[in-house]
Amino acid sequence: MTEAVRRWAVLPAAGRGERFGAATPKQYQKVRGRAVLSWSMRALLAERSICGIVVAVAAGDRRFKRLPEARDARVRSCIGGARRELSVAHALECLAGEARDHDWVLVHDAARPCLHRDDLRRLLNRAGRDPAGGLLAIPVGDTLKRGTEGGRVGATVPREGLWRALTPQLFRYGLLRRALMLCLTHGREVTDEASAVEALGIRPLLVPGRADNIKVTRPEDLSLAAAVLGGRR
Ligand code: CTP
Ligand code: MG
Repeated sequence: MTEAVRRWAVLPAAGRGERFGAATPKQYQKVRGRAVLSWSMRALLAERSICGIVVAVAAGDRRFKRLPEARDARVRSCIGGARRELSVAHALECLAGEARDHDWVLVHDAARPCLHRDDLRRLLNRAGRDPAGGLLAIPVGDTLKRGTEGGRVGATVPREGLWRALTPQLFRYGLLRRALMLCLTHGREVTDEASAVEALGIRPLLVPGRADNIKVTRPEDLSLAAAVLGGRR
């Protein structure tokens, strides 16, 4: 008998938010009365096909347990690491023994509170039917410049074929775990899950996403997120 394929989600939420530069980490900043991380979790909890969500939080974090979403039966937490990929790897380890290699795992930045249901569905439908998995991404719209050390334009970089990688990213549990582990043991820098999978010679599917799936990076992003979420009521 073959076991049904299940869907899991991992939220790396253990960052310090250095660019944001506030005492309260950006994932706990409030947008329309809720923490950024609460919004990100709610976007995933709304998808009933996700059977479990692991949130990687910083060691000593006392804020996570106070979020109402943390009490949801599908939610659990683990301790993250010093880099994003370590936080994701810890969360994947936390599912070992429960998740099967062919199960799907969505990895979504805690700092992206504006994930739209349509984007999540499109990713699940398209990347979830692709042997390689895939990610939400947006074709680059602006003209790109490579800067010199002196802060001048060194060159204009052709933007044709360039995409910005967003989250969620969707991969098979076994593949993603193996890919991240290889990068970690070889000291290879990975800024997203896709780049770890690419290092295995696999080409993840680019699934066009909405531009309002912003990552809260700097303080001014909070009012952008509030406007996006307010416009959806
Ligand atoms: N993250 C994590 N563990 C880390 C670093 C980052 O779980 N060691 C998480 C962040 O909490 C965030 C996501 O990865 O939800 C994307 O990272 P980023 O936007 O870079 O957040 P920070 O690393 O917190 O911010 P900064 O780079 O400005 O310090
Ligand atoms: Mg960071």
